[in-house]
Amino acid sequence: MGVKGMLFVIVALVLVEVEVEVVAIDDIDSTQIALHGCQRNCGDVQIPYPFGIGKTENGTTCFLDKPFNLTCNSSSSSLTSGNVQVININISQGQADMLIFVSKYCYNSSYGNNAVSSQPSGLISSSSFTISSKDNKFISVGCDTYGYLNSFYNNNAGYSTGCLTRCYGNTKEIKDGDCSGIGCCEVDIPPKMRSVSTQAGTFFNFQDSLVFNNCSYSFVVKNGNYTFKKAHLGKLLHETFPVVFNWSVGNETCKESQNRGTNICKGNSICMDAESGYGYRCQCQKGFEGNPYLHNCTDIDECETGQHSCASKHNCRNEIGFHGCFCPNGQSGNGSTIEGCHKKNLLPQIVIGASAGFIAIFVGTSLLYLTHQKRKFIKLKEKFFKQNGGLLLLQQLSSREESSHTIQIFTAKELKKATNNYDENLIIGRGGFGTVFKGVLENNTIVAIKKSRIVDADQVDQFIHEVIVLSQVNHRNVVKLLGCCLETEVPLLVYEFVRNGTLFDFIHNENKRNHFNWENRLRIATETVGALSYLHSSASIPIVHRDVKSTNILLDEDYTAKVSDFGASKFVPLNQNTLATVVQGTFGYLDPEYMQTCQLTEKSDVYSFGVVLAELLTGKKPLMFEKSEEKTNLAMYLTSCLEEDRLFEALQVGILNEENKQEIVEVAIVAAKCLRLKGEERPSMKEVAMELEGIRLMSKSHWVNNADKNFEEIQHLLPVSSSSEKYEHGDSSSGSHQNTKYDSIIRDQEVLIALPSGR
Ligand SMILES: *[C@@H]1O[C@H](CO)[C@@H](O)[C@H](O)[C@H]1NC(C)=O
Ligand SMILES: *[C@@H]1O[C@H](CO)[C@@H](O)[C@H](O)[C@H]1NC(C)=O
Ligand SMILES: *[C@@H]1O[C@H](CO)[C@@H](O)[C@H](O)[C@H]1NC(C)=O
Ligand SMILES: *[C@@H]1O[C@H](CO)[C@@H](O)[C@H](O)[C@H]1NC(C)=O
Ligand SMILES: *[C@@H]1O[C@H](CO)[C@@H](O)[C@H](O)[C@H]1NC(C)=O
Ligand SMILES: *[C@@H]1O[C@H](CO)[C@@H](O)[C@H](O)[C@H]1NC(C)=O
Ligand SMILES: *[C@@H]1O[C@H](CO)[C@@H](O)[C@H](O)[C@H]1NC(C)=O
Ligand SMILES: *[C@@H]1O[C@H](CO)[C@@H](O)[C@H](O)[C@H]1NC(C)=O
Ligand SMILES: *[C@@H]1O[C@H](CO)[C@@H](O)[C@H](O)[C@H]1NC(C)=O
Ligand SMILES: *[C@@H]1O[C@H](CO)[C@@H](O)[C@H](O)[C@H]1NC(C)=O
Ligand SMILES: *[C@@H]1O[C@H](CO)[C@@H](O)[C@H](O)[C@H]1NC(C)=O
Repeated sequence: MGVKGMLFVIVALVLVEVEVEVVAIDDIDSTQIALHGCQRNCGDVQIPYPFGIGKTENGTTCFLDKPFNLTCNSSSSSLTSGNVQVININISQGQADMLIFVSKYCYNSSYGNNAVSSQPSGLISSSSFTISSKDNKFISVGCDTYGYLNSFYNNNAGYSTGCLTRCYGNTKEIKDGDCSGIGCCEVDIPPKMRSVSTQAGTFFNFQDSLVFNNCSYSFVVKNGNYTFKKAHLGKLLHETFPVVFNWSVGNETCKESQNRGTNICKGNSICMDAESGYGYRCQCQKGFEGNPYLHNCTDIDECETGQHSCASKHNCRNEIGFHGCFCPNGQSGNGSTIEGCHKKNLLPQIVIGASAGFIAIFVGTSLLYLTHQKRKFIKLKEKFFKQNGGLLLLQQLSSREESSHTIQIFTAKELKKATNNYDENLIIGRGGFGTVFKGVLENNTIVAIKKSRIVDADQVDQFIHEVIVLSQVNHRNVVKLLGCCLETEVPLLVYEFVRNGTLFDFIHNENKRNHFNWENRLRIATETVGALSYLHSSASIPIVHRDVKSTNILLDEDYTAKVSDFGASKFVPLNQNTLATVVQGTFGYLDPEYMQTCQLTEKSDVYSFGVVLAELLTGKKPLMFEKSEEKTNLAMYLTSCLEEDRLFEALQVGILNEENKQEIVEVAIVAAKCLRLKGEERPSMKEVAMELEGIRLMSKSHWVNNADKNFEEIQHLLPVSSSSEKYEHGDSSSGSHQNTKYDSIIRDQEVLIALPSGR
């Protein structure tokens, strides 16, 4: 099932204050392997803590302890400890590969018998390092040769091992790739060898085979990294070989260090005593990853990283520490294999085509399936997932054949991480429908995550239905829904993050509104009405927003408007124009007719949008609660100002200038039309959109001609019954005379329009 990618939706955001600093996530990045501020690699070699180089800025050493003190030669990119080069460090295995020198003794006439040369492996004199007995071999090459591997530590309490090889001139049996004792011998390495040195020697100064071999070589090598060749006799060109060392930290066992409080293993890891008997090592628990010496191990998302045992990524569900396989909804069976899942959809066909016997089988299997399902979903998270309609959602999404927008289902863990465990400081809004957090996803996308109020069980279907239908809405002025998470007790919705806060803020915040000129206001109004008109008429099912207000219009970095908060939105079935609902919305923006009748229509949004327009014009809040009664309601205030020719008094200071007078008047008229008390007298959202578009496009040179139309419009503003004798220009045949008159009115600006006062 393609439950991935993006989906486009609408939103339910009530952003109040958006100026939140991005949290410094660097400090909590658990994928970091080295101490903060330390060199992480030398050439290609990673340097995980407890290993390290030098010091941090504040003087802490980057390594845990002396044995882990490394140096990096930046010109040759070689990481060394003492004179030994380190080529790989493995944290999870507690191992490190190092290049150790070969011991070599070559013919020297001045030597007698039994001559040796030894090569102590300098660095590894620390007790923290032992040669892994399992991963290495000790090898000697030569024809009158012996080699020793010595381990002496703690004042000689050690042991030695080794092998010898003599050929007696019998060179025919020496074969490439065969280290069986002729020309080459090898032995296993005893356990717990540390502080080792190797020796190479000869019994009789190579008298056996002076012809072609006059050197002995001894070395330890990682299994598989040395293949014997006849040509190596006397001429082994390698100076070093890779050797696997086991390392451990501390000098006590897990228990001892835990008792003393010196144990450094972090959360979700296990402490293991070192096989060498010296110190311990830390290992992330199964299903977790990270550097357990540095920070708590984190859960591996098996599903995303492909380490799962499921038929595919899509029937895999990550859990903390493990993962589970399930069959896509609509199917049943064992999700571990593709054949394991069976389409449930086949069942109806069987029923149709088969006899009563088949029906009995069908009932039987259904029952089995149901009991199976019950057992399967005992886990709490899955319970929530189910309770929140996750199954319904998955089913819906899978049944949609080819949808360009699919919803991304986030895990609770991802979102918890993104919001720093729902950090209070990341709250960017609280609203009637929930709390909104700012979050940063793994891929550094900034998102807004909305934690809904508890949704009652009856609303679940509705919730999912809304998410799905809204997912089909794709409009640049509508906030995008990226995905959701249903594993938590309350559903979480993930939206694109809109940077610049709310329109409300811009209108009413003194510091911001200075940059907010008329041109921007008109553009934002036009964008908003475009989105609303799209929802009303172009979306697959008409959607009434129900809570249009300036706090639900967000502004992105270019101040482009994005309509948000569809928590209260309703779909209007195609064959219905009205919908009886519980009255819901925000005072000051609420359609008075809807308040009285409870009949929801698209015109309710038109009214609310009218209030937003009034807000943009006047800069006043919808409910003003000032002394003067008349001023309490912005809608009435604007309408009465228009009627009493006081529009310009009512405008927000600073937006009016010579060029935009005409536009402002026209927009005020549109607002007044939207604010008509009777819904049916209001224009449709589409008409409002067209009018605002027209006003935006209108060039200054056209205003005279438009004035005519204006006049008619003003007339229609008022209740139809109230047309008055004073007002006689309604007749479009008035011609040039009227134009001239209007011209003067506009220029004058004091007496805008003579509207009848008697209503
Ligand atoms: C020094 O920095 C490291 C890592 O940045 C930190 O863990 C440690 O507490 C700091 N030490 C002091 C003394 O500030
Ligand atoms: C770590 O190694 C470097 C180079 O070998 C040496 O200069 C430094 O003193 C060592 N640091 C400690 C704490 O042993
Ligand atoms: C670093 O490596 C270069 C090239 O192998 C070598 O010439 C130089 O001496 C090395 N420097 C140190 C400090 O070991
Ligand atoms: C460490 O060893 C494990 C198991 O062998 C392996 O999966 C992992 O890739 C190794 N890591 C490194 C850095 O070599
Ligand atoms: C042989 O050994 C002597 C004494 O240790 C040394 O001076 C001489 O250089 C060696 N000769 C060779 C060829 O290694
Ligand atoms: C070293 O590590 C390997 C792999 O983790 C382990 O099998 C072995 O027992 C360890 N100890 C010694 C002393 O080799
Ligand atoms: C073996 O030793 C002899 C005497 O030092 C020397 O002449 C000869 O070149 C050596 N042979 C090889 C293959 O190194
Ligand atoms: C050791 O053997 C492995 C596998 O054959 C190879 O990839 C690696 O390069 C070898 N390492 C060295 C240092 O030769
Ligand atoms: C272990 O190491 C600590 C500090 O490095 C030291 O004080 C302590 O004596 C050591 N204990 C043993 C048993 O070696
Ligand atoms: C790390 O794990 C420990 C124990 O599991 C826990 O108490 C601690 O809060 C965790 N720390 C962080 C930063 O997650
Ligand atoms: C599912 O199939 C896998 C692989 O065939 C098998 O290991 C596992 O036991 C099966 N699980 C169930 C519940 O049948």
